[in-house]
Amino acid sequence: MSESFHQAISEESRAGEESPAAGDGPGEVANLADKLLEVHTWLRAQLQQVRAEADAYFTGREPGVPLGLQLRQHCLAFCQALEFHHTGEDGQVFPFLADRHPHLRGALDRLSEEHRTVEGVQRELVALLADLGTADPGRFRAELDRLSAELTAHLDYEEESLLPALAGIPFPPAP
Ligand SMILES: [Fe+2]
Ligand SMILES: [Fe+2]
Repeated sequence: MSESFHQAISEESRAGEESPAAGDGPGEVANLADKLLEVHTWLRAQLQQVRAEADAYFTGREPGVPLGLQLRQHCLAFCQALEFHHTGEDGQVFPFLADRHPHLRGALDRLSEEHRTVEGVQRELVALLADLGTADPGRFRAELDRLSAELTAHLDYEEESLLPALAGIPFPPAP
């Protein structure tokens, strides 16, 4: 197994402001399925946090008050971490699995397409974040809801499709 493959998995969780904390996800990580679950658990938690901050911000917002810096930073950091995760999957994990588990190719194609869909919503959100002080709260929330729905469905399907194959790959790799 290539060094870069394991590196893509192990480093994908390091983007953004925080890494998955001990205790997130499945507990002890013994294989790539555990690692994927750990990263997904962290992404789900970050998404919940951003949604809670967006609700708090828009509920208390008064006309003329600029974007909450914390919301903006967390939202951008989350988008960056998510992009990094998907880039690692598209570039390393999916090609590796397609090569060794041909029966997964249909699922992998669908998962890659879902990455593009999520990417499109992320672009919309980042564009709104550029000037959230004047952004329409309804539109921002709608995009965040859309990201949440698309991403949650994607993470669920990815786990359902790939965890059995990933469970056969030890992690961390043997020295
Ligand atoms: Fe993915
Ligand atoms: Fe993933």
